[in-house]
Amino acid sequence: SSPSYNNIIVSQPKPSVTLITLNRPKALNALNSELFHEINAATAAADDDAAVGAIVITGSEKAFAAGADIKEMKDKEFAAAYKSNFLGHWTKLTTIRKPIIAAVSGHALGGGCELAMMCDIILASPTATFGQPEINLGVIPGAGGTQRLTKALGKSLSMELILTGRPLSATEAASHGLVSRVVDEGTSVVDEAVKVADKIAQKGAVATQAAKEAVNASFELNLQEGNRFERRLFQALFATKDQKEGMSAFAEKRKPTFTNE
Ligand code: HXC
Repeated sequence: SSPSYNNIIVSQPKPSVTLITLNRPKALNALNSELFHEINAATAAADDDAAVGAIVITGSEKAFAAGADIKEMKDKEFAAAYKSNFLGHWTKLTTIRKPIIAAVSGHALGGGCELAMMCDIILASPTATFGQPEINLGVIPGAGGTQRLTKALGKSLSMELILTGRPLSATEAASHGLVSRVVDEGTSVVDEAVKVADKIAQKGAVATQAAKEAVNASFELNLQEGNRFERRLFQALFATKDQKEGMSAFAEKRKPTFTNE
């Protein structure tokens, strides 16, 4: 039986896709510490489930997540925040091996924007807005906002958003590459994300995990090291049954059946 959570709802819209819905509607899905522990538990469970090929994280129509929980943070002192490595557990999400898609409607602000950026693909509804308004609270982003936003948008626009706190519309986010696309008005961004996740889940899992690992390495390594890492992974995939199946199927003009081996 699946564990019960207080702040998220976990479902399987398809056997191959785990859907995590943030569920603190009264607080616009503000990310308190417990909620993030629950995201970590649910994504780890999906990562360990051989039937699951990809994960979708979403919020509500009004808010993907309006940020870290300001009420939980407001009385924090430095010593306690430092000693407990406050919010350090958020980075666990970046160690999940299976692809994760953020399906964003409404506010994705502060930690909510950072959560979306920790995912591998962001799909946006036309109502989505992205921003790092921490400057209005006397602080700065603390879960990768200054780093991931800058890598996605470049220096000038990131500086403008982070220094002024102004949000970015869905269309602006798409035109600058923060999101892969904005779904059509009237199309559910969650349904669309589940479709993309299911499509990914039909591929060989060794290859999808290797692809995720290689793309993410581009953020850490220089071009030469990154290309070397990619080539080694590419060569290693010739040890998989899925490579034999994928290439044989092409030669035999049939659809491949991957076994994730
Ligand atoms: C705690 C929050 C919250 C948050 C909203 N709420 N955002 N509670 N933390 N981040 C609560 C409100 O207090 C309110 O509770 C309820 O949700 C509804 O919010 P309203 O403000 O009434 O809604 P609305 O007028 O529609 O405005 C929406 C909004 C606004 C523009 C998104 O809520 C807002 O500005 N929120 C804060 C956004 C923000 O600054 N995020 C960054 C947080 S810092 P009540 O009880 O009054 O009904 C951060 C640091 C990351 O994320 C660092 C990570 C390591």
